Amino acid sequence: MKGKYVFWILLVFLGMGMVFHAVPGEAARKKIKVSRQGKACLGCHEARSPAFVKEWKLSSHAKNGVDCYTCHKANKSDPDAMKHNGYTISILVTPKDCSKCHAQQVKEMTSSHHAKAGDILNSLDNYLGEVIGGAEAVVVGCVQCHGSKVKVTANGKLDINTWPNTGIGRINPDGSLGSCTACHARHSFSAAQAREPEACGKCHLGPDHPQLEVYEESKHGILYKANKERLNMHKKRWVVGKDYSAAPTCATCHMSATPSQPATHDVGTRISWTLRPPISRKQENAAKKRSNMQDVCRNCHAEPYVKGFYRQFDNLVNLYNDKFAKPATNIRKELIKKGKLTKANFDDKLDWIYWELWHHEGRRARHGASMSGPDYAWWHGMYDVAKHFYNEFLPEVKHVAGPKLYKQLSKKYIEKDVRHEWYVKGMSKEQLQKTQKFYNKRYGQ
Ligand code: HEC
Ligand code: HEC
Ligand code: HEC
Ligand code: HEC
Ligand code: HEC
Ligand code: HEC
Ligand code: HEC
Ligand code: HEC
Repeated sequence: MKGKYVFWILLVFLGMGMVFHAVPGEAARKKIKVSRQGKACLGCHEARSPAFVKEWKLSSHAKNGVDCYTCHKANKSDPDAMKHNGYTISILVTPKDCSKCHAQQVKEMTSSHHAKAGDILNSLDNYLGEVIGGAEAVVVGCVQCHGSKVKVTANGKLDINTWPNTGIGRINPDGSLGSCTACHARHSFSAAQAREPEACGKCHLGPDHPQLEVYEESKHGILYKANKERLNMHKKRWVVGKDYSAAPTCATCHMSATPSQPATHDVGTRISWTLRPPISRKQENAAKKRSNMQDVCRNCHAEPYVKGFYRQFDNLVNLYNDKFAKPATNIRKELIKKGKLTKANFDDKLDWIYWELWHHEGRRARHGASMSGPDYAWWHGMYDVAKHFYNEFLPEVKHVAGPKLYKQLSKKYIEKDVRHEWYVKGMSKEQLQKTQKFYNKRYGQ
């Protein structure tokens, strides 16, 4: 009975004209099935844009009959619909379009911080970009990582000030957020490619969030390079400890499956701190998120090792927060309140020193500690924090506050913490002698 039912349904579909044609060519191993409309696209695009077609043919999509038209087709009423050689299509294929077949991934991505990354208009960074730098720089800089708000001009054409763009939190004309191509480049749309650390490295690098550099200098990054071909990145299911064991990539820790956790497109589900603001704070449900991450580590490390790592990491974040970030933030606030600095940002020298203290070197120290990159934790991190706190920040505070107010501020925020004693009182005699002895013994000077 059931078999007959299915047969009739199939016949109806065939009758509706959804006849598939096979495309001959290099992917003939498994015949690629393409809709009638898709075949028309290929008819022109195979000659006009051969590389697109080649990449697509190698993809899982081609093997499963997902063709040019399946993805690019549009309704006339869509905000970015365009007439194109007898078809209604749109250039953008947004998360909303992908969600027809990948609802789970789109849901997770949409509820993640990644989807919110286009919402930076009112941030301090944006003032720095738009006003102090210039709008043209934002187009090729900030929003290429964060995502633009894509605008449509006439007949589905896209405003060049907003596209090309594959920023992670792109605001699309159909209201959906994000861009799947940020990690899965078109038209191969491969999971394996997104598991590579370089997929994240377009955005997660540089002076204010050097995650790629930290990873590359960590033991994990070293082992990844040495064992790349043993990592089985092309496996459909990619479970740490089962399908590979030599090293973790960014995806392993932040997204991919473990024997007890499914893969996720919400990159926030395994991190307990936010290391981005001037003073770090714990995320909501931090304990649960931390245990999700530790579940990843435990496939390759014993529990005490993992706990030990987290203690070292927390200690560094607390050191940065309490010894440097809180006093610097409070001192600057008081100077603004007392009228010694303007309320506006970036028009005083102290604003810039403070900004780099937390946004650049302070983040580098925290990011280095969070992912086992000692050079970032110290030389590019806390070394720079300390150098600029004592050598630029406090002297500039003295300069704008004048001696009387400086004394008050120092008493309130610096002197009460014994860790600043060396600066307030100078190095002790014993310490000086010890140091002299060390250099004599080691270098004879
Ligand atoms: C009669 C030939 C022809 C057919 C049929 C055709 N295209 Fe095109 N298409 C072109 C040409 C030519 C361009 C311009 C490409 C270029 O500049 O390299 C183009 C451009 C595009 C663009 C980019 C538009 C832009 O403004 O950036 C998309 C997307 C596209 N085609 C998708 C499709 C899809 C999907 C189909 C099938 C429904 C299709 N095309 C059918 C010839 C065709
Ligand atoms: C799985 C869905 C999917 C399929 C299948 C697909 N595309 Fe695309 N295509 C995209 C996405 C996503 C983009 C990136 C546009 C964006 O959102 O910025 C894109 C971009 C494009 C562009 C504009 C980018 C450029 O570099 O000019 C063209 C043209 C295009 N596709 C043509 C094709 C053709 C031809 C085929 C069939 C061989 C095809 N697409 C199949 C999803 C798809
Ligand atoms: C019409 C349904 C459909 C649409 C629309 C679609 N996909 Fe797919 N996608 C599939 C199918 C089917 C597979 C193969 C699944 C499998 O092998 O189990 C797949 C596989 C994938 C994979 C894994 C590929 C691999 O082998 O590594 C990625 C990544 C992917 N799609 C991304 C996208 C993105 C991004 C979009 C939107 C731009 C999109 N898909 C639109 C049906 C679709
Ligand atoms: C190279 C890519 C890239 C560029 C260029 C870039 N950012 Fe970012 N930005 C990021 C990444 C990645 C993060 C998240 C870092 C982290 O989590 O450690 C981030 C974080 C931020 C945050 C903090 C968001 C939060 O929720 O805490 C703001 C605000 C921001 N960027 C705004 C800007 C502005 C404005 C510009 C240009 C003036 C800019 N960014 C340039 C990649 C970039
Ligand atoms: C931050 C990078 C990133 C973005 C953005 C991203 N993906 Fe993925 N995606 C990955 C990684 C990494 C994997 C491999 C996960 C694993 O190891 O199984 C993956 C795997 C997939 C798969 C294969 C099945 C699975 O879940 O493992 C599909 C389908 C997919 N992504 C669809 C999408 C769609 C649709 C979007 C846009 C809503 C999207 N991805 C955006 C990184 C990303
Ligand atoms: C196109 C740029 C881009 C790519 C590619 C990208 N990210 Fe991000 N990522 C961002 C930006 C921007 C933010 C900050 C968003 C915000 O806070 O507004 C961010 C934030 C994050 C966060 C913090 C999330 C939270 O909830 O606080 C993690 C973790 C992360 N990304 C991991 C990854 C991983 C892993 C990959 C690669 C598989 C990746 N990202 C690829 C731009 C990107
Ligand atoms: C060995 C596992 C591991 C690997 C590999 C890894 N990370 Fe992380 N990542 C972590 C841990 C642990 C944290 C801190 C978690 C917490 O806050 O509890 C973190 C934090 C982050 C954050 C949040 C930073 C912030 O400002 O709040 C981002 C973004 C990030 N990682 C991106 C990446 C990228 C990109 C890569 C690859 C280049 C990568 N990670 C590789 C484990 C890893
Ligand atoms: C796929 C396996 C794998 C995963 C997952 C993994 N690691 Fe590792 N990790 C290793 C290997 C292998 C080494 C190298 C050990 C050695 O020989 O020193 C290492 C080294 C380390 C080191 C030592 C760094 C150094 O410079 O000596 C720390 C700390 C560490 N891992 C912490 C973690 C944490 C925390 C997590 C989870 C967030 C994690 N690892 C996830 C495999 C892994």
